[in-house]
Amino acid sequence: MKKLSVLLTVFLALGQFVFAAGIKDAGPQKQQHGIAIAVEDGEVSGSESLSPIDIKKLISQMTLEEKAGLCSGRNVWFTKDVERLNVTGIMVSDGPHGLRKQATGGDHLGVSGSVAAVCFPSAAAIAASFDRDLIRTMGEALGDECQAEDVGIILGPGVNIKRSPICGRNFEFLSEDPYLSAQMATDYIQGVQSKNVGTSLKHFLANNQEYRRMSSSSNIDERTLREIYLAPFEGAVINAKPWTVMCSYNKVNGVYSSQNPLYLTDILRDEWGFDGYVVSDWGAVSDRVESLKSGLELEMPSSRGINDKRIVEAVKNGSLDEKILDRAVERILTVNNRYLDNRKPDATYDKEEHHQLAGKIISESMVLLKNDDILPLKKTDNIAFIGKFADKPRIQGGGSSHINSFKVTSALQVMEGAPNITYAKGYDVEQDIIDEALIREAVEAAKRADVAVVFAGLPDIFESEGYDRSHMSLPNCQNKLISEIIAVQPNIVVVLHNGSPVEMPWVNDVKGILELYLGGQNVGQATVDVLFGDVNPSGKLAETFPIKLEDNPSYLFYFGEKDIVEYREGVFVGYRYYDKKDLDVLFPFGHGLSYTTFDYSNLTVSADNIKDTDVLTVKVDITNTGQVAGKEVVQLYVGDKESTVIRPIKELKGFEKISLNPGETKTVSFDLGKRAFAYYNTEISDWHVETGEFDILVGKSSRDIVSKKTIHVESTVALPVVYTINSSFADVMVNPKAMELCKPLWDAVAALFNEGETSEQSSPEKQAILAEMTANMVKVMPLRAAINFGDGSISFEQLNDILDKINKL
Ligand code: BGC
Repeated sequence: MKKLSVLLTVFLALGQFVFAAGIKDAGPQKQQHGIAIAVEDGEVSGSESLSPIDIKKLISQMTLEEKAGLCSGRNVWFTKDVERLNVTGIMVSDGPHGLRKQATGGDHLGVSGSVAAVCFPSAAAIAASFDRDLIRTMGEALGDECQAEDVGIILGPGVNIKRSPICGRNFEFLSEDPYLSAQMATDYIQGVQSKNVGTSLKHFLANNQEYRRMSSSSNIDERTLREIYLAPFEGAVINAKPWTVMCSYNKVNGVYSSQNPLYLTDILRDEWGFDGYVVSDWGAVSDRVESLKSGLELEMPSSRGINDKRIVEAVKNGSLDEKILDRAVERILTVNNRYLDNRKPDATYDKEEHHQLAGKIISESMVLLKNDDILPLKKTDNIAFIGKFADKPRIQGGGSSHINSFKVTSALQVMEGAPNITYAKGYDVEQDIIDEALIREAVEAAKRADVAVVFAGLPDIFESEGYDRSHMSLPNCQNKLISEIIAVQPNIVVVLHNGSPVEMPWVNDVKGILELYLGGQNVGQATVDVLFGDVNPSGKLAETFPIKLEDNPSYLFYFGEKDIVEYREGVFVGYRYYDKKDLDVLFPFGHGLSYTTFDYSNLTVSADNIKDTDVLTVKVDITNTGQVAGKEVVQLYVGDKESTVIRPIKELKGFEKISLNPGETKTVSFDLGKRAFAYYNTEISDWHVETGEFDILVGKSSRDIVSKKTIHVESTVALPVVYTINSSFADVMVNPKAMELCKPLWDAVAALFNEGETSEQSSPEKQAILAEMTANMVKVMPLRAAINFGDGSISFEQLNDILDKINKL
């Protein structure tokens, strides 16, 4: 246990504009970039790749106008050419869960059509796979599609933290946990970029709601920013080096993300080593000159030349150093050239293969939330498929990420011709209207069946980019349908299609719940595979499902007041809050069931005592104790047992997904460095570990910890402390030597409490209470109390003399 002295350590120490623009040569492989960048005068030429020196030379041959022009898009999706110098622009496209390449008029809101492609499962779903390899494979597939379609950068992944379940865009984001988000984003980026196609890590920073996203300010304290909102970007930038980062629309602490040098330059580049270019979210630039100075290189789409002119004027009138412009152009050309140099003009991809991959990914991501001995279903059971989503699943969310899927499978279609499957539509999705006739038909089908599988979820209109949900409920017509079926059929499985948590008033009255999220175009096949046990479910929730929206920590302040959104819950986001409050949740972070069972044993740590500079190795054995093969996500959380800083009970610091045959055992190993134990100390502007005991918690979910060890970590960094007359005795007690020197001050104050109470007059019990009260009261008094309340034995000179000494310790 941490000593009292340590405990007392105080460290004082929508879119708003649709740009319809003609896209030049946008068909597959029509754009030929045989020549990367070449200049005509012979200095730099040919198809060889350009060195940094060549690019600098090239820039030196550009006019001011050409350079300014290169810092914004040619149209909605292309960067500019400079024909005179044979500089070729590249195409960028959304992202993140498929390729939305617009062949005709372009817009950034998913309004106009795009070329047929493969809709992979949404980010919310894939994060639940906790499977790095799987995400990497998806990234590789996306990279192949980009090469085939001549798209140089795919606009994703999105790592904005799920602060509230009602953010309309949560389906596009990975998790409520920064570590998990960073890990998943890393593999996505590495997968795509292994194909020599860039990614755009977005939306930097703190874009956690859609409401007023282009004007609101996310007001967040520094420690929370570091630990929660910056951390997913930090991990992904450092681990995976995305070619580009997309700034968000919103402001952070009053400054637009598009023109905030603290984040765009000091942290992103100088601290994390980002070496690509920053692109604005579409239309996010407010002051173009400020944004360029702050570190935003490329403005998208284009301001039709207006902002380019402002750059030119600023250079001419001396308010912008031309070197800043040159550097921006160099960064843009360097990255674009990376794509052009490695362009595979003959690339193609097999759509059918990617369709199968999309199915595999969702089958390994969906989360079995509840199973009272009902799943897997028997293939011989008479089963009623109920609900429109059985026939037309909701596979993705609305807005800029909307993919034109080349085909979609539904569970009903996969089971077509099976004599034991009946179907009833149950509800419609266009409007939330209870249709008694549809419900009656569904109830009849449920009555006649052995099992009713209700395909429920959120219709498109309920969640999308551009606006948030106002509640966390399913449509009334669906809840009503489920309750009517409960009245006639005890064997019910609910299959959910939603981008973010929903309330489940019927949770105790159904036997099975399978969460598909928005599962991409082959979700129908995957659903059938899991329902009937051909695939054993292995997803785990990457976010908490609260019982009701009001339980969510951001609930009181979520939409903010006008344009001010205070993140008053601080670091207590998601399970960090529910755990600290000891609140019941519907389903906890990390939860997910399997058709088999796993046993955890032999948790070991490489040392019981470490320094914060050491690496701790943690090992645990996992055995499949059931009858079928399965995959388990082993989760490791770290908790600081006692801290002078207000910290979460525990935080995810490692996870591993393993595959085990029945009876098989595997050892999983984790390495924990300093960061696993640290919090962000704003006084020293660095991550800091407080000396003391830490719990190493290994489990099946954040609320199902099955093995635990406690270790001691010694800090190697002394926090700066300067004592003044206003420092409390508690502050001084942190250092026993300092306290020893302050003893005369303490005694002078304590004397006050003893006045009038002599041992003859009071009982021993009373004296004990008095001593404790005195200690507690004096502890929190400033050292100058020896003067204010002292017995006159201490002078100011003596007080200053003691201060002098303790500050020199
Ligand atoms: C979205 C981005 C998207 C961009 C281009 C914006 O509205 O916020 O995520 O990449 O449009 O479509």
